[in-house]
Amino acid sequence: MAKITTKNLNLWYGAFHAVKNINSAFEANRITAIIGPSGCGKSTLLRVFNRMNDLIEGVRTDGGALIDDNDILNSNTDLVVLRKKIGMVFQRPNPFPLSIYENIVFGERIHADGITRDGLDEIVQESLKSVLLWDELKDRLNEPALRLSLEQRQRLCIARCIAVKPDVLLMDEPCSALDPQATARIEELMRELKNNYTIIIVTHNMQQAARVSDDTGFMLLGELIEFGRTEQIFTAPHDRRTEDYITGRYG
Ligand SMILES: Nc1ncnc2c1ncn2[C@@H]1O[C@H](COP(=O)(O)OP(=O)(O)OP(=O)(O)O)[C@@H](O)[C@H]1O
Ligand SMILES: [Mg+2]
Repeated sequence: MAKITTKNLNLWYGAFHAVKNINSAFEANRITAIIGPSGCGKSTLLRVFNRMNDLIEGVRTDGGALIDDNDILNSNTDLVVLRKKIGMVFQRPNPFPLSIYENIVFGERIHADGITRDGLDEIVQESLKSVLLWDELKDRLNEPALRLSLEQRQRLCIARCIAVKPDVLLMDEPCSALDPQATARIEELMRELKNNYTIIIVTHNMQQAARVSDDTGFMLLGELIEFGRTEQIFTAPHDRRTEDYITGRYG
């Protein structure tokens, strides 16, 4: 069963129809890439899944977005619970101006009342291990996170998501601020993480989508033009517009 499905999903910013009638299914323990030219609605679609578009004035949706068969667009969805379940990583690593340790336990302090110091220590260790930062940072946990390198900061942001034990990781251009070596290492990390999570990555970088994802969706002007196994999308697209995009005919 798919972890996330959309059913005739539409979204408007005021009068502007940004996401058009999208039907899709995102499988657990796979990486799905969403590709398409700038402004086609990739980030908007991603933000539907943690209801982050709610923060934008004048947004309206219709249709369904189901996570584990529950329609999260429902007005009685508990957004705190939803956002714990659906972690998100952004283009610019955005650690809080706190220590490495406090960044990781930040969500846990909100979600788990009365957790012990030992419990928090354990979460910090586990989370940093899962993003392969533990050995590097275990003696520097009280240093400011903003002192870390860009790649370390992005890994820390992933660790901060993981710390609250989400099911889904949404990644919006997570490598675009990183150099090619750091990008390759984050991709490697994603492959490891997919054993435990459903991962959706938005990327401008088609090579990245081809390298890292199992499934790919191609969007254009708010529509999901084609969705399928990554290999098929990149080698034998069914739609002419997908082919034009992957061969570089759109910007
Ligand atoms: N807050 C907003 N208010 C009004 N329109 C918006 C808002 N955010 C995005 N849009 C518009 O919705 C469309 C989709 O935007 P979105 O950011 O989802 O695209 P994208 O595919 O992520 O683009 P990029 O690759 O540049 O990040 C664009 O035309 C954009 O201008
Ligand atoms: Mg975007």
